[in-house]
Amino acid sequence: MAALAVPFRSSASAVFDSAAKVFRLDGDGVTYAFGVDSAGQLQSLHWGGALQADDVLPAAPKAADYSGFDRANSVTPLEYVGFGGGLAIEPSLKVSYPNGVRDLVLKYASHTVSADGIVVRMKDVSTEVYVDLRYAMDKATGILARSAVVENKTRSWIRVDQMAAATLNLPFAEDYELQYLTGRWAAEWTLQKRPLEVGETVLESRMGMTGSQNNPWLAISREGLTDEEDGPVWFGALAWSGSWRITVDKDIVGHPRVTAGYNPFDFGYRLKPGETLETPVFYAGYSDKGMGGASRLMHRFQRSVILPNAPTPKLRPVLYNSWEATEFAVDEAGQIALAEKAATLGVERFVMDDGWFGKRNNDRAGLGDWVVNTEKFPKGLGPLISKVRGLGMEFGLWVEPEMVNADSDLYRAHPDWVINFKDRPRSEGRNQMVLNLARKDVRDYILKSLDLLLRENDIAFLKWDHNRSWSEPGWPEMAAEDQQKIYVDYTKNLYWIFAELRRRYPKLEIESCAGGGGRVDLGIMHLTDQIWPTDNTDPLDRLKMQDGFSHAYMPGVMMAWVTASPNWVNKRSTSLEYRFLSSMQGCLGVGDNLNHWVPEDFATAKRMIEAYKSIRQTVQRGDLYRLVSPQGGSERSVTLSVSEDKRQAALFTFLHSSSTFDATPIIQLRGLDPELRYGFREIAGKADTDTPATASGAYWMNHGIRVPLRGDFQAAGIVFEAV
Ligand code: GLA
Repeated sequence: MAALAVPFRSSASAVFDSAAKVFRLDGDGVTYAFGVDSAGQLQSLHWGGALQADDVLPAAPKAADYSGFDRANSVTPLEYVGFGGGLAIEPSLKVSYPNGVRDLVLKYASHTVSADGIVVRMKDVSTEVYVDLRYAMDKATGILARSAVVENKTRSWIRVDQMAAATLNLPFAEDYELQYLTGRWAAEWTLQKRPLEVGETVLESRMGMTGSQNNPWLAISREGLTDEEDGPVWFGALAWSGSWRITVDKDIVGHPRVTAGYNPFDFGYRLKPGETLETPVFYAGYSDKGMGGASRLMHRFQRSVILPNAPTPKLRPVLYNSWEATEFAVDEAGQIALAEKAATLGVERFVMDDGWFGKRNNDRAGLGDWVVNTEKFPKGLGPLISKVRGLGMEFGLWVEPEMVNADSDLYRAHPDWVINFKDRPRSEGRNQMVLNLARKDVRDYILKSLDLLLRENDIAFLKWDHNRSWSEPGWPEMAAEDQQKIYVDYTKNLYWIFAELRRRYPKLEIESCAGGGGRVDLGIMHLTDQIWPTDNTDPLDRLKMQDGFSHAYMPGVMMAWVTASPNWVNKRSTSLEYRFLSSMQGCLGVGDNLNHWVPEDFATAKRMIEAYKSIRQTVQRGDLYRLVSPQGGSERSVTLSVSEDKRQAALFTFLHSSSTFDATPIIQLRGLDPELRYGFREIAGKADTDTPATASGAYWMNHGIRVPLRGDFQAAGIVFEAV
């Protein structure tokens, strides 16, 4: 199985001070340091702004018990702590032995420091159980990658009951605030904030998938010191698409720490002698430029390290998707009619969504049978694809390979292939069951069906969906005590399939979708090119979700379609221009039924798509400034994307509703070059009449621009360009 860590192209310097026994990583703007104390434990020493190279960090102090109840290991900021020796806080690792012992006390054993980072080997005090702690830091962003590998060198099996990639300790302070993302289907990406008090906050998924209830991302800021543009922020994200958990706690003496890894709920992974278990990577960063600075670092890290084809991931084409137009009623003539219309708009990729395969006329049948439905496509997909290609577009297809309907040939042939407990009911979600990808035969079947589809058809893109969470997480073919391996092996096999498809079809692009934003994390992002963040396509609801999304993930993967008004979710009516401006904050798509459009709609869409292409590089690859947040009932929202060379900036401003004769607030831009002169052009809406035709970056940032908006659901888009 593939290693879970992504190598950095340029790692930060890693050094070991052998006198003080201090390890240190220095990236741009960030220093991370930890040391070996006299008891052989690893203590965190610094995670925050950069220190000077000649600053000497003092050795880790002797760890002391607080009392007979609270021993040293529970009140000391340790890098990775085993459940043992009376530990009272969240362990990084808990194991059990066949003789009933459940005690693990990890001590420093050895280390290697290389150009790629640091590996510290820890060993249990009494048994041959080893843990390698891996540290690497991306030089340009100072983002640290931490993971762990446990190795069983004893003569019998051990069971891993709980395992984190890392524990990270923040500097001791009392005014921390935690921010994280929660959601549900069609309402993902709500930003939450709460003070960090003594006790534990648990962010998690127990569902076998990333989930939208919580996303595996968090940021910790300091109350009163941190705002959008200024002040310290510690942030992290777990690169794992299965069940996961991140705990944030403050121990009884007030040390704040974050522990992230496999979800210990229902977990158990037996290792035979010689076997290892590797964790996913927890990426952790620091910015002193507020929440905006933290997310810009994350975005830069994603495009330069995480995404396929990093550091130069391809720009997202403008796509058309058939789902909201036709749902399951796809057929050759209907799709060709849509494709012809889409092509006139400047759409670059035509994607046929659900309904093209098996007996798929609704969501009760067909999943698992990845063969073309010949009633809808009598000559296969060939004629549609040739037509789409002839119109100058790429062709993309929806698939949901991990699922099966009871009413399918696959389920009739292999009822044992789904995740299930023996002789127990099999709960369905959206009338479907989850295939057990942890099984090799299932993994191979999925790869084979997709491979056939891709080999026989000119398909540039797959929208890979996953429309339910797990239930009855059993693996009956395995021994009872090994069935919980499903939580790890399923996701590793999923990653393997993605990697193998990409290897066989290097030009293939993939979108991660799970009924919307149910599978968004840095693990899946490494193997997919774009993300469907939510099924909710209402442009106002989207503004808030896009804002939440942007705290953790880059706009350059965030698909946003323009669909029908009134919107199916909430019956809200908005203008086509407003819908386009909302979607242009991410990767633009169109998902409306073009058969219902009038010539004026085509003209508007054509103009907006052309405008989008002129700013696409800036929106998808540039730096995002959230100038006015739509969160918390705000009537306005404003974002600015600034290109990497600072020569272009795209401003989007929205007014949700006017209630009185509002004045027009001034918008002060950020991130421009103060000395460059910029002119502006309007994509939609108008700047105030007395706005100068050109002015310096300093003028736009320090004086600003007024863009009058009046009425409900009003929006404008202005592009600034260096002259
Ligand atoms: C999910 C996706 C939608 C669409 C449908 C098809 O809900 O999020 O975009 O593809 O499945 O059934």
